[in-house]
Amino acid sequence: MTKILITGALGQIGTELIVPLNNQYGQKNIIISDINKNPKDIETNQYIDLDVTDIAKFENIVKTNEITHIIHNAAILSATGENNPELALKVNNQGFENALSISKEYGCTILSPSSIAVFGETTPKINAPDDTIMRPNTMYGITKLWNELLGEYYFNKWGVDYRALRYPGIISYKTKPGGGTTDYAIDIFHKAILNQTFNCFISSETVLPMMYMPDCVNATLDFMKVPNEQLKRRVYNVSSFEISPSILTTEIKKYYPNFKINYDIDYRQNIAENWPNSLDDSNARNDWNWSPKYNINLMSKDMIEKLKQIYEI
Ligand SMILES: NC(=O)c1ccc[n+]([C@@H]2O[C@H](COP(=O)([O-])OP(=O)(O)OC[C@H]3O[C@@H](n4cnc5c(N)ncnc54)[C@H](O)[C@@H]3O)[C@@H](O)[C@H]2O)c1
Repeated sequence: MTKILITGALGQIGTELIVPLNNQYGQKNIIISDINKNPKDIETNQYIDLDVTDIAKFENIVKTNEITHIIHNAAILSATGENNPELALKVNNQGFENALSISKEYGCTILSPSSIAVFGETTPKINAPDDTIMRPNTMYGITKLWNELLGEYYFNKWGVDYRALRYPGIISYKTKPGGGTTDYAIDIFHKAILNQTFNCFISSETVLPMMYMPDCVNATLDFMKVPNEQLKRRVYNVSSFEISPSILTTEIKKYYPNFKINYDIDYRQNIAENWPNSLDDSNARNDWNWSPKYNINLMSKDMIEKLKQIYEI
């Protein structure tokens, strides 16, 4: 029987995985965990407070609950990581190493998202492939690349079923994003709907790959179920569309013609500039039929509709 532990479950992505996982595997089989958070909206799932750097507690949860799959979402993201690199190093590396060694010990499948942050200035900007030059210059990117390499090592050496999707920036409306560089693409919608001017921290023409949350959830759930023999690699690029603040502003102005954006560029520009404009995700498309449903138009329409409901506008 499948029994799943989600770490960092109350973050932007984890929160949205809970209901679809409950629907597929049964609520009693999905255990959610995070650090020092109040799971007020999802008290129906079993919640355990877990700092992923605490290996003894982590192991005990996996052992006593007979966990078969760990969805390891606990991490410190790119922008927060640059403000506190020591914390990012600790949580992202030690936490992942714990998840991996526990998976080895108890035979768990481990899904741990990677990121476009593994790429760097010398990576091809357009259609960055799965295997290419990777010289990240943020602590977040360095830890994510180390995660990928260690996960592949554990797979090759000990057969640990490690899987990772390299998500682009994920756009969603339910939970506030957790300190990433692509968070601007979420904040901009909130400001447009509230009729406020948006101060953007990256420059108007900075293009980054993105994905709408429903596609991120589907990619994760589908990827988790692909039989091992069908996978030709452990880490896959996945992407949907590419946007810059200026492209997004044009789209938002279709709904809010008076929408205004100012530019107040900060350290996150340097992070964004070193990431590719677009990803080649053909391996995911070929190997396990990855196919996103949302483009920029559909995403924007849905974001605006959903946020209007939330703000009761
Ligand atoms: N959101 C994106 O755009 C994006 C893009 C690429 C990759 N990812 C990856 O997806 C995963 C989930 O990201 P997210 O957007 O949900 O991030 P998030 O910041 O919203 O959530 C991460 C969660 O981890 C928790 N956490 C932090 N330190 C912890 C610790 N020591 N122990 C346990 N939990 C801890 C936080 O409380 C938070 O709830 C991460 O691995 C991230 O790197 C996210």
